[in-house]
Amino acid sequence: MQIASAPLSNAALHAIVLTEGDLSVPAELDAAFGGALSAMVADEKFKAGAGASLTVRSMGKTSAKWVGIFGAGKGDANGARLAAGAASSFARKKGLTSLDINFQGGGKAHAEAIGEGIVAGNYRYDRYLPEARSTAALENFSVQGLDAPDADVLTGLIMGQARSLARDLINDPADDIYPETLAQAATKLGTERLQVEVWDHDRLKNAGMVGITAVGQGSDRKPRFVHMTYTPAGESKGNVALVGKGVTFDAGGLSIKPSGGMITMKCDMGGAAAVIGVMSAVEKLGLNVTVHGIFGAAENMLAGNSYKLGDVLTYNNGTTVEIHNTDAEGRLVLADCLCYVGKMDEVTHVVDLATLTGAAVVAVGEKYTALYSNDDDFAAELLGHAKSSGEGSWHMPLEESYNELLKSDIADIKNVGGRAAGSITAALFLQNFVVEGKTWSHLDIAGPAFLSAPQKHMEKGGAGPQVVTLLSWLRSI
Ligand code: BES
Ligand code: MN
Ligand code: ZN
Repeated sequence: MQIASAPLSNAALHAIVLTEGDLSVPAELDAAFGGALSAMVADEKFKAGAGASLTVRSMGKTSAKWVGIFGAGKGDANGARLAAGAASSFARKKGLTSLDINFQGGGKAHAEAIGEGIVAGNYRYDRYLPEARSTAALENFSVQGLDAPDADVLTGLIMGQARSLARDLINDPADDIYPETLAQAATKLGTERLQVEVWDHDRLKNAGMVGITAVGQGSDRKPRFVHMTYTPAGESKGNVALVGKGVTFDAGGLSIKPSGGMITMKCDMGGAAAVIGVMSAVEKLGLNVTVHGIFGAAENMLAGNSYKLGDVLTYNNGTTVEIHNTDAEGRLVLADCLCYVGKMDEVTHVVDLATLTGAAVVAVGEKYTALYSNDDDFAAELLGHAKSSGEGSWHMPLEESYNELLKSDIADIKNVGGRAAGSITAALFLQNFVVEGKTWSHLDIAGPAFLSAPQKHMEKGGAGPQVVTLLSWLRSI
């Protein structure tokens, strides 16, 4: 997908973006349709809500095949993202390969959001679709009316493509993406500035990574641990670690899930996918921060050698964990990663991402990530970046007294806290593995990782949440 240097007067889709405050269709275009466009806006009670659309075949009235009117809501950058995303999504639906999109004002933030929205809207997971059901992707587009250089739109494209990589990894079936191939997806990104280290099963065992190995032990696909390190070319302005849950399939283990709960569980590596997505863009964006991308990858299966209820794991930091439910496996995988990060003295900020609990889906649904942090200022900072990135995050409480729910009779803690506050107790569990002095945030992305219904600028399925938000934060450091 390329941004054209000049307006695409012959674009297959000519898109006009309107805002709630100004519903007037450009006069020349309206005249070409004999006033039908403005009549349509009035008839259909089009209010220019963000991502709303009215589309018509041009039938030779203009050089475009289709003309579309798209709503940008209040006209802020988030509205622009949804308008561009809806236009691009329509183009993909019809297999239109060129798009000319016209805004009425907007600067840098709009330009980035538009680039990102165009990628998001045009995305389709079609690897396994027969050709008859596939449509052509966008090849060229141009954007008019912005007071920002194309370079800003390009930045948006890079961030959008980072999210698309995460979406592909989430959408790929678990028979394609298992620990070894998930690690390969990281290895593929390696450059001189981005070093990738992959630990195999033996190394995991020797290093005492008890959570990743226990969760993975019932599977024929052996677990992996991955550490990617990006070192900026110039002076490094910070040192952060991103940690992802990479459960490539979650059958629940011996605490087996019913089919209805298992059907989407190829998405359970969504945290690792987001980490890989972010790492794919750090060098392209020229970030001046040292970024560690870390994930544990394992498949949670049932077999004669699966880990069992009642087992006790002794972690690297000395914490003992009694297993009460093998389906609460993500926290066990993350705990190893957090212990590992705990030993990295230079890291000041740790953000983990995980499709961790069904309870988070119940609490905040698919539009929100449940955000926890041991530092309210950091939480506020991440919430801000989520908001400007058009992603929902909601600050949840790390209620200390609920630690009571995790008490075990024979070990430090057990791996589940019961039905009440299930997303909170999972976060509290993780906090046991966060070293004092490190600023930490936990993002439970169980809801937004895999959409059950399409959004204005995104098809359903894998969604790559928090990639753009985290890139936005990293760019601000
Ligand atoms: N991977 C699931 C959480 C999940 C549920 C992600 C729905 C995405 C959509 C996680 O490993 C899990 O099974 N959690 C259990 C925890 C329980 C046993 C304490 C859950 O939520 O039921
Ligand atoms: Mn599970
Ligand atoms: Zn899981």
